[in-house]
Amino acid sequence: MEGKKKIFSGMQPSGSLTLGNYLGALKNWVALQDEYDCYYCVVDMHAITVPKEPKDLRKNTYEVLANYIAAGLDPDKVTLFIQSHVSAHAELSWILNCFSYYGELGRMTQFKDKSKKQDSNAITAGLFTYPVLMAADILLYQADLVPVGEDQRQHLEITRDIAQRFNNRFSETFTVPEPYISTDVAKIMSLQDPESKMSKSDTNENAYILLTDKPDAIRRKFKRSVTDSLGVVNYSDDQPGIKNLINIYSKITNIKPETVASNYEGKGYARLKEDVAEVVVEELKPIQERIDYLLKNKDYLEEVYRMGAGKAEATAIKTLRKVQKKVGFIPR
Ligand code: TRP
Repeated sequence: MEGKKKIFSGMQPSGSLTLGNYLGALKNWVALQDEYDCYYCVVDMHAITVPKEPKDLRKNTYEVLANYIAAGLDPDKVTLFIQSHVSAHAELSWILNCFSYYGELGRMTQFKDKSKKQDSNAITAGLFTYPVLMAADILLYQADLVPVGEDQRQHLEITRDIAQRFNNRFSETFTVPEPYISTDVAKIMSLQDPESKMSKSDTNENAYILLTDKPDAIRRKFKRSVTDSLGVVNYSDDQPGIKNLINIYSKITNIKPETVASNYEGKGYARLKEDVAEVVVEELKPIQERIDYLLKNKDYLEEVYRMGAGKAEATAIKTLRKVQKKVGFIPR
């Protein structure tokens, strides 16, 4: 572990992940696990910033952990844990709240978007300070790199600002993390509206593929995917639907998008859709088997998250103690 750069990332427990989460993030996380000292977390504390049924939260937390492992994260190589199990997240978050400004938090686009969707009396302080908890997640582990999607870039920026502010006010305390937004990771878009990101919160379930979707559902959703009326397969921004299908095919097979496009020249959209569906079905088959197995073996999942929490806590507590001392808290 010593000498390796550190990576931190997390996903919210919103149940089974989508093909977008898998191709855009998880597959990447797996690729990083040998080269880096990785901490991957299920962020259950972030999940309660919007209303959430306790039984759903419990179920979804298990599911996301199972998805992580099934996708190839190895609990012996990386630290896999549940955020609420390491109380240092809450403790550091409070301290960092006192070094974050109302103004800068109010400028977060995700907060503005999410709060617009709710009655103003239902917008919680937790939703407002969400980025500060995320900063605590990252800074506790002195992470060098944070693999996230483009939509989290602004949260990474505020994390860097908070870290630098604290370091300047006291002395070097936190590693200032860099976002790790790999440019070759094509964003996986909605199958119904290829201009917007594939998201599980979409009201139309044909818009997304879940890692747990059955082969028939996968085939049906691709068949119904929205394309265009040009009728020729090109890898171009003018054909976002086709481009998205090619990206999915390319990410799974490791064949360059341009090559995929030329392989389908003159073949029509139906053929492309069928083949993409088959590639996805095959890719997900072993993952689905592992997810099923893991969810039937909760004892194993518990073993994983306990071990993870122990490893995470050992690192986190060192940072927390340093911070507490710097702000002037008396050790007990
Ligand atoms: N906010 C992130 C998202 O919704 C999840 C997250 C929480 C996270 N803490 C993090 C991601 C720390 C990276 C690092 O995608």
